[in-house]
Amino acid sequence: MHGQDVRLDGVSITYPNGFTAVHPTDLTIEAGEFFSILGPSGCGKTTILRAVSGFVDPSAGRILIGGQDMAGISPERRPTALIFQNLALFPLMSVRENVAFGLEARGKPKRERLARAQELLDLVALGDQGDKKPTELSGGQRQRVAIARALAVEPAVLLLDEPLSALDLKLRQHMRAELRAIQQKTGVTFIYITHDQGEALTMSDRIAVMNNGRIEQVGTCDAVYSSPVSAFAASFVGEVNAIAGRATGAEGGYLRVDTALGPLVARNPNGLAAGAMVYVFVRPEAVTLHPGADDNRLAVHFERRDLEGAFVTLHLRAEANGQAIAAQLPNTGASGDAAAIRAVGFSRDAAIALPEGALAKTGKEDMAAQ
Ligand SMILES: Nc1ncnc2c1ncn2[C@@H]1O[C@H](COP(=O)(O)OP(=O)(O)O)[C@@H](O)[C@H]1O
Ligand SMILES: [Mg+2]
Repeated sequence: MHGQDVRLDGVSITYPNGFTAVHPTDLTIEAGEFFSILGPSGCGKTTILRAVSGFVDPSAGRILIGGQDMAGISPERRPTALIFQNLALFPLMSVRENVAFGLEARGKPKRERLARAQELLDLVALGDQGDKKPTELSGGQRQRVAIARALAVEPAVLLLDEPLSALDLKLRQHMRAELRAIQQKTGVTFIYITHDQGEALTMSDRIAVMNNGRIEQVGTCDAVYSSPVSAFAASFVGEVNAIAGRATGAEGGYLRVDTALGPLVARNPNGLAAGAMVYVFVRPEAVTLHPGADDNRLAVHFERRDLEGAFVTLHLRAEANGQAIAAQLPNTGASGDAAAIRAVGFSRDAAIALPEGALAKTGKEDMAAQ
């Protein structure tokens, strides 16, 4: 199997009712890449996959797979296969027959189909399960059968639309590693859609952060996590403290910001100037109980301590206005007397100032209160 690259060239998608689900988008996904599109429900992820697979036509722009323009090419003639949450395996067929099914349409003889199905079951580590019925398998095993079935037609691009969302947490985490392994073994291009940032960060070579029909950022997981380009990307990918303020001056790549919690200094990748309304973003793991002389400082009081195994999360409140501030520390077993904390800090390099904008609503509102 061989992956191919996928290019969106000025693609926008407006549904017949006049609603534009995807605004003009340029995007290149490399051959053999595990690429995730990450964004909240309704942002347009599935619409992009439908366009790549050929079930909806772009209203403008072009989609190229392996350099070939897909305009006018029907779904079954595209080098793509689609997997979604509801698997629709055939209950009366064996697992092996389910996988072989896709090859029937291609007119391969039965012996060859079943032999190929066996290879694919081996690939997804179900080599000894081929004679069972789908109902005799676990949810995760059924998901792997669906993947094997999709791979049977030898797609260059596998499109996965939230395929794990019906599984329980433990299984989902296990399947992340399985999916990644299958992708690497086959070299097929994976375009994986999810609203779960943990999934996107653990599996992907690169991710696109999508909001309201627009891709706001494309990059490696590390780049998106440590250098988000928008308030939305900063708040959707990972936990973050967001402190609103007004810039008072820029200097040497940093921005000084007046906030209700006092003056702060943060990285200024966008070259914002005095007067700009901004958020200063800092990750909980960058907040320290022992700020140095040059660090930003916040006067806080202790509210709650959550033990999360390897980490402890301290939930604090700013003295100035009661804004929630989270600090995440390694659980050394000696985090001291949390209730006595009066101040925390963070370095200017750990903080990033971005233009004010809508924050992600993913149950993190509390951390980003005004
Ligand atoms: N057939 C359709 N007609 C009109 N609007 C649609 C249609 N399908 C989806 N939408 C709308 O387009 C937006 C994006 O939908 P979708 O791509 O399914 O989002 P996601 O997969 O990110 O949850 C949503 O607002 C949805 O209601
Ligand atoms: Mg969807």
